[in-house]
Amino acid sequence: TWTMAGFREMEIARIREQVGKGHVICGLSGGVDSSVAAVLIHEAIGEQLTCIFVDHGMLRAGEAEEVVSTFQGQFNIRLVHRDASDIFLSALDGVTDPEIKRKTIGRLFVEVFEEEATKLGGAQFLAQGTLYPDVIESVSFTGGPSVTIKSHHNVGGLPERMNMKLVEPLRELFKDEVRDLGRELGIPENIVGRHPFPGPGLSIRIPGAITREKLDLLRKVDTVFLEEIRAAGLYDAIWQAFAVLLPVRTVGVMGDGRTYDQACALRAVTSTDGMTADVYPFDMGFLNRVAGRIVNEVRGINRVTYDITSKPPGTIEWE
Ligand code: XMP
Repeated sequence: TWTMAGFREMEIARIREQVGKGHVICGLSGGVDSSVAAVLIHEAIGEQLTCIFVDHGMLRAGEAEEVVSTFQGQFNIRLVHRDASDIFLSALDGVTDPEIKRKTIGRLFVEVFEEEATKLGGAQFLAQGTLYPDVIESVSFTGGPSVTIKSHHNVGGLPERMNMKLVEPLRELFKDEVRDLGRELGIPENIVGRHPFPGPGLSIRIPGAITREKLDLLRKVDTVFLEEIRAAGLYDAIWQAFAVLLPVRTVGVMGDGRTYDQACALRAVTSTDGMTADVYPFDMGFLNRVAGRIVNEVRGINRVTYDITSKPPGTIEWE
């Protein structure tokens, strides 16, 4: 019979056979797929694996630190942590169009990744956390067969350019199986059970131009929302939950004074694969509590809205 423990052993043998004495580079994003791929490959070939974590400066609060401490600290994986936020943020300066944001980030990501890979002296193999749904449907989460709704980025083109072969140990698995494999490998629940997070990060949750100030504001709102979701025991019942910073200022009243600050939206959906999604039906008491905390604790935000659009016709992310 098929077991996850058996799969783990079989894949480890396969990786060893494919790689031999070669070197493997793996892009780590902090997401479930690349994390599980990295730990599995590390178990197979140890020091022959180096992970590259390109920090584009648009991650959630504490996320970069968490990735570094887990993979370097707990798993002892060789890890290059490149803080490239200056490069990304200056290239995005004044950019408002969602597709240009996505393409700019995708292009820079490949450039920075390649630069770091070259510094390492290159490698014969590139590891990717490709899953079965990505294999059978190359337009996995864009939502349409022939129209590009959103450009997704990965390190496409790099394997050919750098003459690397792909190592894709998860290509027979679905998302829930990847999570099980991660648990089998001892990866902590905060990574294995983590909600999906888009490659372009918080940039596509800030309609309009991105600045460090807006990113900081969004991180604060997002942190409060997720804290309350966890405290209410709802995290695992939700596919994705996050905040969006709206490019709108509205009038409010705080104490005796008038405020004129920014509005934000909260989004939480259930889904099985991201292709379709339903709005999570929070009770009003929960939403009131979150809104109260955000307006009280996050200076600069004076209005909170809840996005009640399903997918379709909405997409999960706002851009
Ligand atoms: P949409 O917004 O298209 O999102 O309904 C569907 C799922 O895909 C995630 N997403 C991305 N993931 N790179 C990624 O790795 C991207 O460019 C990207 N854009 C959206 C989104 O968070 C949701 O889970």
